[in-house]
Amino acid sequence: MQPTKQDNALEQAIQILTADHDKVRLLFREYKKLMDLDADASQRGPVAAKICQELTAHAELEEQIFYPAARKAISEDAEECMDHADVEHQSLKRLIADIEGSHPDDEHFDANVHVLQEYVAHHVEEEENDMFEELRHAEPKMDSVLKKMQEAVSKRTEKPNPFKDKSPKNAGDARQSKAAARKQVRTSGSQKKPAAADK
Ligand SMILES: [Fe+2]
Ligand SMILES: [Fe+2]
Repeated sequence: MQPTKQDNALEQAIQILTADHDKVRLLFREYKKLMDLDADASQRGPVAAKICQELTAHAELEEQIFYPAARKAISEDAEECMDHADVEHQSLKRLIADIEGSHPDDEHFDANVHVLQEYVAHHVEEEENDMFEELRHAEPKMDSVLKKMQEAVSKRTEKPNPFKDKSPKNAGDARQSKAAARKQVRTSGSQKKPAAADK
């Protein structure tokens, strides 16, 4: 076992970020399960709210503390990956705002959560495989950065569920038609094509 790893501030900072990534991965998995069960808004809403809240807090931690330190530490050649991450954060935040501004029974709510999951998976993979590796090569001193990150994490607070007192845009219709559409998708794989298939 590498004796320096646990004492290394960079590795500890990376651990904070990867713990966030893992937490959000689990939440997305939970949401997917609820979607597959056609769970109603009262069940999907809190999970979607938690996903948005966790991602927002994580993005703040990276943008305000980790990314600026990472940008200073890595070589000019690797700056491209920091620019790339900045742009991806902007897209992620727009999608989060769309989700938080809608209702779990709105027509594209599940699709937005699914697209967010895909974006996040892609972004996290690049951070973990490219950015963190660049930093490991650069071996920056991150003691004060780690301290700031730990403080920021300890100050995180629960935010209210943004969907709680909201109604869907087309109350009544949206969820019903969506549930029917899902059912159709699930059963279509086992259905025979009409007439021609039986000839
Ligand atoms: Fe990020
Ligand atoms: Fe991240």
